[in-house]
Amino acid sequence: MGSSRGSYYSALKRITKVANSAFSLRKICNSIAKSTAKAMQANGCRILSLNPQKEYLLTVGTYGLSDLYLKKGHLDARKSLPDILEGKVVFIADAAKDERVQHPQIALAQGISSILGVPVLGKGETIGEIRIYTREPRQFSEADTSFLLSVADMCAVIFERAELHQLLEQDYKASERRRKSSQVSPLPTTTLRPTSFAHPSEEDFAKVLDFYCIEWLYEPRSFPLRWKGDKIAEMFTPDFYLPELDLYVELTTLKQNLLTEKNRKLRQLRELYPEVNVMLLTKNDFLKLLAKYGYGPLGEAKVEGIDRVLYSHAKIQQRIRTLARHISRDYAGQRLVLIGILKGVVCFMADLMQHLSLPVTLDFMAISYYGSDGQVVKITRDLDSSITGQHVLMVEDIVDTGMTLNYILSHLSAHNPASLRVCTLLDKRARRLINVPLDYVGFEVPDEFVVGYGLDYKGEYRNLPFIGILHPELIKGEGPR
Ligand code: PRP
Repeated sequence: MGSSRGSYYSALKRITKVANSAFSLRKICNSIAKSTAKAMQANGCRILSLNPQKEYLLTVGTYGLSDLYLKKGHLDARKSLPDILEGKVVFIADAAKDERVQHPQIALAQGISSILGVPVLGKGETIGEIRIYTREPRQFSEADTSFLLSVADMCAVIFERAELHQLLEQDYKASERRRKSSQVSPLPTTTLRPTSFAHPSEEDFAKVLDFYCIEWLYEPRSFPLRWKGDKIAEMFTPDFYLPELDLYVELTTLKQNLLTEKNRKLRQLRELYPEVNVMLLTKNDFLKLLAKYGYGPLGEAKVEGIDRVLYSHAKIQQRIRTLARHISRDYAGQRLVLIGILKGVVCFMADLMQHLSLPVTLDFMAISYYGSDGQVVKITRDLDSSITGQHVLMVEDIVDTGMTLNYILSHLSAHNPASLRVCTLLDKRARRLINVPLDYVGFEVPDEFVVGYGLDYKGEYRNLPFIGILHPELIKGEGPR
């Protein structure tokens, strides 16, 4: 059995025509597989493309093969008739018995007897294969092989053209991305505080941000979303940008079912500018988000009695890490005794010591004040262990007049420590009466009544995760602490 030169000629004409059509690569290859199998009076044909790493063969066109045969998936390039990839023509007379066939049982189940395989060569390199399958045992003639090699040459041209298309497509997408990015308005460097907001909820949101000391910019940037020719046809301007969190926020007061349009725009923005971090928020969502970033308390925009937050929890933690780094560096190779004065220091001591990379021991003292103006200090709880010959670091939450620290330092010095230094989270320098040496200072605070993060007003507020300024109404007639 064999095919005539005439049928090969008309098959090649058909193949050339389809190769030059606008069909997809897969459709072209399926059509070529069909024309080839029919012209060769074979039962099946498979066109395979080799991946650039030359690891596997991917089926790009088939004819006459059942799903079972195709389900073998990618063919391992090292195992599946590797001679073809070496550039050789391979002929298998009996697929069920030939050791070169990777899945003889499947070939048997499919009733495949003979196989003819030729390489697809592009500029001398193997870039794929074509395989012909017959049910009847078959000897292939020189004309058969020569026809199949011509089809392989055509496939090589098609593969390379597809690769060129892919390259052009990628290049086009990259230049589109560059063009779009260049049209995004630049981020301003100074804070934008509008005289009026577009919506009252935006003003509320700005107040909450201010309350928690979160820096913000209002509508700082516009992102083009759609173009007509070279002109921008649609833009999107998120309401806020929070530089510390690198986050754009679009606020919404719309009901869920009216959100479709806004969601569409956000989806488009994320697709076009994948590096941009943007969120659509309701007020409740926003409070949850604050909690996630360590601002609190969850579910309440304000804490009763607090005028404003002075240092957010995140900011305090950041400063403590820096202080701990300096202390660890200064005392490197030594042991350290940390001494705190109850109760205000508890939060600071707990966080600071966790960041010290030194061996430390811990002790606490308690004091009370007496005298007509409350300015005489008395120790009500002294140290548990001796500090003689030890390196001592006094840890304080706040130094105000300096009276407490001055008294404590002279008390401790009398025990002859190897060294005695002071670390305070807050320094209210404006109220200093006695000049005490401070070696490590977290923040210098204004002359206002501060509470939170261990500091109290009449025993309360110590549990706030941030440091805030008490509302002046609350402390009318009392001086700042
Ligand atoms: C605070 C703070 C210092 C002291 C500083 O304690 O913890 O020890 O005041 O003030 P000064 O520099 O004017 O002496 P407070 O008396 O409020 O007690 P507490 O730590 O129990 O809150």
